Amino acid sequence: MRTKPEMMGQLRPAFSELNLSEGFEFDTEMVTNEIKEDCKPLLLSNEQLTTLMNDMDVAIRNGLAKDTNPSSIVKCYVTYVQDLPNGTERGKFLALDLGGTNFRVLLIELGENNYFHMDSEIFKVPAHIQTGKGTELFDHIAKCLAEFIKKHNLDSKKALPLGFTFSFPLRQVGLTKGYLNSWTKGFNCSGVVDEDVVRLLKEAIKRRKDVEIDVCGILNDTTGTIMSCAWKNPNTKIGLIVGTGCNACYVEKVENAELFDGDKTKPHVIVNTEWGAFGDDGKLDAVRTKYDRQIDEDSLNPGQQRFEKMISGMYMGEIVRLAIVDLANQNKLFEGRLSEQMKTKGAFGTSYVSDIESDKANYKETLKVLAEMGINDPSLVDCANVRYICECVSRRSAHLVSAGLAALLNKMDEKSVTIGVDGSVYRFHPYFHKLMVEKTKQLTKSDIKFDLMLSEDGSGRGAALVAAVAVRDELPSMTNGFSAK
Ligand code: BGC
Repeated sequence: MRTKPEMMGQLRPAFSELNLSEGFEFDTEMVTNEIKEDCKPLLLSNEQLTTLMNDMDVAIRNGLAKDTNPSSIVKCYVTYVQDLPNGTERGKFLALDLGGTNFRVLLIELGENNYFHMDSEIFKVPAHIQTGKGTELFDHIAKCLAEFIKKHNLDSKKALPLGFTFSFPLRQVGLTKGYLNSWTKGFNCSGVVDEDVVRLLKEAIKRRKDVEIDVCGILNDTTGTIMSCAWKNPNTKIGLIVGTGCNACYVEKVENAELFDGDKTKPHVIVNTEWGAFGDDGKLDAVRTKYDRQIDEDSLNPGQQRFEKMISGMYMGEIVRLAIVDLANQNKLFEGRLSEQMKTKGAFGTSYVSDIESDKANYKETLKVLAEMGINDPSLVDCANVRYICECVSRRSAHLVSAGLAALLNKMDEKSVTIGVDGSVYRFHPYFHKLMVEKTKQLTKSDIKFDLMLSEDGSGRGAALVAAVAVRDELPSMTNGFSAK
């Protein structure tokens, strides 16, 4: 390992001189001033975050109102989910979960005394299918479902109720009907935008002729997250995902959801904000950096999902990589030397950001990540600089989520709210939770209390619960709406 004792005229200790074993706390002292300077655009002040929070509030209100919705960037789709699970749901349910890195089929059984059993299988969606023809995508889904049904010895002729978690912006017109607005994340299949996704699924299943299903609900992963948390904690009123993508849904009063044409005798409905699109009208321009602009230009959906692109796992590692490459090219890192991997788009996964920030001793993880990226001889200062870049990018991500959450909490104005959360960034980044909670507190009205609850497999369990509640509500005496404020 190369050590570089002198940097910017200051004497720098070598790795061996440091006592960085257990309890190592990252010390930004080691970070060079020029890196700190170059990373400044990644730091967001409370003033900037407050502006974003207020803009998000306006964007959400525009999405909810009939007059402004057509031109609104944040769409606020009504989900037609109006009831929480109440524990009386029983039976076996199938669930499909499409929208993250993998596609899953699940079989879920709900029974007495909160009995819950789940079998699931992960299937790959190959890249050529993710960006191929829509019919091929749905044929692939139907094939995986048929394989699952066979493998689990389920009666293929008896239509099992199915909940479909489809984690993309869906303009819903009913619990089992929704039109895709646009693809996000790594998907871009032709012939699906503006089509009813449930119809496409049913048609693919019909083409196979070997299974029967009864689609009882289509939902977003954020809705699944609310449902799965509400099953245990009825105070859950926001569902948040910070994973491959980023989005939130919340419980809104029916009278505020002006486009809702469902059952208005019930007081509430879940609204899927699709806040990932926030900023697509320029509202984020003041805080977007050259790296954000580059990410957007090189993405499958340029100009779209700008908020999501500054936050979520699909992009976080790449933002760090772009910063590293830029700074190395200016001779501010690795003495200007870069490996082929480091120059390769997408090679620096978001899990690396979590690894680097999890370092407990002597930059062990950072060195490992850099070695995997083909950089074998970094200095101590390089390691500190890389860690600093990661921190700036992940902290900004957490703080942007906080601005969104605070907008929702302040708008809902309930005195106590549980937020169901899921997603790989939230789960695996060592400080995301802490950063997000701290900043959300600072931005939220002082009399509002909130807590976060990790969702137990919201997109699978939630799909079964939406299906289960739909089945349950066929018996009206058992209904149980969200508690009115
Ligand atoms: C999608 C949302 C989804 C989020 C998290 C976004 O790209 O548009 O529908 O909830 O990712 O998976």
